Amino acid sequence: MKVLVINGPNLSRLDIRDSSIYGDMSYPQLVNLIESSALAHGFTADVRQSDDEAQIISWLHEAADNSHPVIINPAAFTHYSYAIRDAAELVKSPLIEVHLSNPLAREEFRHTSVISGVANGTIGGFGPNSYALAMSALKALL
Ligand code: DQA
Repeated sequence: MKVLVINGPNLSRLDIRDSSIYGDMSYPQLVNLIESSALAHGFTADVRQSDDEAQIISWLHEAADNSHPVIINPAAFTHYSYAIRDAAELVKSPLIEVHLSNPLAREEFRHTSVISGVANGTIGGFGPNSYALAMSALKALL
C-alpha cells in the first residue's frame, strides 16, 4: 500500500535549519529514513515536499480521491492554515500529523495546531523517528 508523505515549508532545508531543534539529518537523508521505514512496515512511501500551500492542498485532494493514507508534517502551516486543515479533513483514510520537534515545548505560536483536530493523531518531538513512529501507528490503524 502506498502512503503519501507530505512535508511542508522549509523542511527541504534541514541542512541550514537549527540543528539543536531539528537534528543534523539532511532532507535527502530524512527521505531515505522515511522510505526504509515504510518498507519495514510493508508500505511504499511517496515522499513529497513543498513550500506552497496550494500544492499541499492539491496533494491532499489526490490522497482523498485515491484513498491513500497520509503522513503530513505541515511545518509552519500547522499553526494557521485553515485551507490545509479543510483539505486534510477530506482524506478519509488515516492521516497522521508529525513533527520533528515538539511544538508544545517551543514558542507559544507553535502550541496551536489547526491540523490536529482532523488527524487520527499527532507525533512530535522524536526527530526523524517521528516519521517511523507514524508508520507504526498507521500500520496499526489499517
Ligand atoms: C515543525 C514544527 C513547526 O513549528 C515548524 O514551523 C517547522 C517544523 C517540526 O517538524 O518540528 O517548520 O513542523
